[in-house]
Amino acid sequence: MIKKCLFPAAGYGTRFLPVTKAMPKEMLPIVNKPLIQFGVEEALAAGIPDMAIVTGRNKRAIEDHFDISYELENQIQGTDKEDYLRGIRHLMSHCSFSYTRQVEMKGLGHAILTGRRLIGDEPFAVVLADDLCLNLEGDGVLSQMVQLYKQFRCSIVAVQEVPREEIHKYGVIAGEMIRDDIFRVNSMVEKPKAEDAPSNLAIIGRYILTPDIFELIEQTEPGKGGEIQITDALMKQAQRGCVLAYKFKGKRYDCGSTEGFIQATQFCYEQLYSKGLLY
Ligand code: G1P
Repeated sequence: MIKKCLFPAAGYGTRFLPVTKAMPKEMLPIVNKPLIQFGVEEALAAGIPDMAIVTGRNKRAIEDHFDISYELENQIQGTDKEDYLRGIRHLMSHCSFSYTRQVEMKGLGHAILTGRRLIGDEPFAVVLADDLCLNLEGDGVLSQMVQLYKQFRCSIVAVQEVPREEIHKYGVIAGEMIRDDIFRVNSMVEKPKAEDAPSNLAIIGRYILTPDIFELIEQTEPGKGGEIQITDALMKQAQRGCVLAYKFKGKRYDCGSTEGFIQATQFCYEQLYSKGLLY
């Protein structure tokens, strides 16, 4: 089954400058927990224990976060502050973390290809940590997708309906509906103008990919923005075989934008932190 989750985490986070000048955007906190920790928790909850993180320069804080801090452990051992480390300790004892560096930024497709050695020849999940997905009512978004993968055994992208004026920020799919929440993709465009978009179904930062995607990425020419786009490689996969788009259950916050970041913070403060559920 799916045992590995890839986290492309080499981006500069320019929309959050100056805070991201020396700090990875994946470490921005939603109240007291960094974005990437939410992503790792979602993966582990989906039964995925091995995290493969594609980092870049200035990203050391991510590695330190998922490692023991002996000084800190020593300081707070036996005090009630230990409770704050409950969540991260659980992850560290149940997950493995491996890292590779993306030396040049050439797009999401290129970032995923950089992780190839860490993934090998098996299906894997991808989480873009700045898309925060929460489902307090049931299974997390990756869990929902892993369950679908067991049934269909092909690549799956998570999609959400977005308003027309926002569609240009996303990869957009069109396809044949095979269940009220599943589409078989027959068209996929990276960041189209609203008038060219094939639908209002936008891809968000959760993917399950079969390993043949790596060769397809290698064969993919630079697309939108001069970058190697995963959307273009997935379109080839859809033409050759099958790619599904899944309308997930739950909420998704675009924490790469200040509005989404603030909304996520407010939601997590009210629904989790103030109830003692964010640790
Ligand atoms: C990437 C993908 C895009 C997808 C989006 C989801 O874009 O290229 O297809 O819709 O993530 O967050 P980015 O936001 O990195 O520009």
